[in-house]
Amino acid sequence: MSLIVNGTSVAPPDDPRVSLLDHLREGLHLTGTKKGCNQGACGACTVLVDGERILSCLALAVQYDGRHITTVEGLAQDDALHPLQAAFIEHDGFQCGYCTPGQICSAIGMAAEVERGVPSHVTADLRADAALTREEIQERMSGNLCRCGAHNGIVAAIQATFVVEAQA
Ligand code: FES
Ligand code: FES
Repeated sequence: MSLIVNGTSVAPPDDPRVSLLDHLREGLHLTGTKKGCNQGACGACTVLVDGERILSCLALAVQYDGRHITTVEGLAQDDALHPLQAAFIEHDGFQCGYCTPGQICSAIGMAAEVERGVPSHVTADLRADAALTREEIQERMSGNLCRCGAHNGIVAAIQATFVVEAQA
């Protein structure tokens, strides 16, 4: 049994009760993924599993045998930041930065959901493709809290990355 974390095969924890979040942070020393509430309420622990966003504090590491897990440490390629990471810097999408890895992983998963045509609570027309409007982004990212109140910059960074990409 093994997990594939940022492209590398790693062993699961010995104790099957260990959460994916604790295994990432304490077992694998990938501390980019943050522990906020540890009960599914803040989004700080968001990672991608086969491209879908999940809350790693609510998941057991042993659930993910053979699955591809991407943490914030795995987003940069060839020493270049992921475009969304660069946009967070450009648009002041953070202050203390504690929520930022979760925000970024969540936004990447969220954009993929929109791409697949998954509607949100505020999508008016379920037959039309959802656009990444400010309202859609706010709704879809509402599970990721930022106690610094950097939400304006976060939305701007997401729009700059994914709306511009979609229009290109
Ligand atoms: S630490 Fe997982 S949702 Fe808050
Ligand atoms: S930047 Fe501080 S919690 Fe979001």
